[in-house]
Amino acid sequence: MTAEPVPSAESPGTGVPRPRPAPEPATEPVIELDDVRKVFDVRRKAGPLRRERHQVRAVDGISFSVPRGEIVGYIGPNGAGKSTTIKMLTGILSPSGGRIRVCGIDPTRERTRLARRIGVVFGQRTTLWWDLPLRDSYELVRRMYRIEDARYARNLRACVELLELGPLLDVPVRQLSLGQRMRGDIAAALLHDPEVLYLDEPTIGLDVVSKARVREFLRDFNAERGTTILLTTHDLTDIETLCRRVMVIDHGRVMYDGELRGLHAVGDSERTLVVDFARELPPVQVDGARCVKVEGPRQWLAFPAAASAAPLVAAVAAAYPLVDLSVREPAIEDVIARMYGAGSSTGT
Ligand SMILES: Nc1ncnc2c1ncn2[C@@H]1O[C@H](COP(=O)(O)OP(=O)(O)OP(=O)(O)O)[C@@H](O)[C@H]1O
Ligand SMILES: [Mg+2]
Repeated sequence: MTAEPVPSAESPGTGVPRPRPAPEPATEPVIELDDVRKVFDVRRKAGPLRRERHQVRAVDGISFSVPRGEIVGYIGPNGAGKSTTIKMLTGILSPSGGRIRVCGIDPTRERTRLARRIGVVFGQRTTLWWDLPLRDSYELVRRMYRIEDARYARNLRACVELLELGPLLDVPVRQLSLGQRMRGDIAAALLHDPEVLYLDEPTIGLDVVSKARVREFLRDFNAERGTTILLTTHDLTDIETLCRRVMVIDHGRVMYDGELRGLHAVGDSERTLVVDFARELPPVQVDGARCVKVEGPRQWLAFPAAASAAPLVAAVAAAYPLVDLSVREPAIEDVIARMYGAGSSTGT
């Protein structure tokens, strides 16, 4: 048994997915960090008999706040400090410096009281009881958090329906596939109606269909109940599907905090104009773009993502026998890889 789930709050909700409502004005911050730091003292071998101490600045002065109901993507390369941040936000780790408030509560000082307001899913580790059927794990969660019967029944019904857990309820956790177990873990984190949900790599190792199912569930759940979600992932499709706001962390610092599409601008990214000519030609030469690839009569011209494609198209059409064209947006992966590369840790 590994469990340490986390419990309760108020809002009821029917469990039936509804269309996403228009976003409400961002107001009250639910998660607040001010210059938060975490330094680990570690010993490493410095010779056959010698060990030397050194410090790892896992989180190195992070400040941000998240308003109620928002889904924020918290991304960065391996070792960037994402999980450490989440552990501090739950009270599992205490910060070495700075100030944290979640639902107005200091997680370190009132971890148990906070536990009733938040839910956590660590994709790498289950909070369920390995030898028990899912149903029994949920029953233990109910007792640990003293979830009132009606609320428990309603939340369990909603999670079972939306996460398609019905056939799995009587299966011991150790017999579940990774994707089934992950859905089971997500349900366990939500049975007490948390206001805030931390998800640390909830789609890790899942196949494409399972990932899509988890994303759809999270999107609906957030829309219906207004649960604030902080999501860590290495899968950018999770971020593109769920988050308008994304924070990029590297070396324990915030490298970017803003809209996902704003990353293109800071990432200095390029769009590509793909042109088909009437015949094979030498690489095109036009102002404001450079030819990056030629394949028969087709050429790829890279130009700054922030620039308009119109003058470029006009210039190419005026000087070359243009037959067809299309514009390709930069892949968000490329933009972020470039950002990671700029300050890089150990890679993903
Ligand atoms: N308990 C610990 N003791 C010592 N160092 C630690 C501890 N936990 C984390 N670290 C170090 O802190 C840094 C940040 O680790 P963290 O787990 O927060 O990274 P992460 O962003 O979650 O990475 P990943 O994408 O690989 O999950 C790393 O250098 C890691 O080795
Ligand atoms: Mg991590």
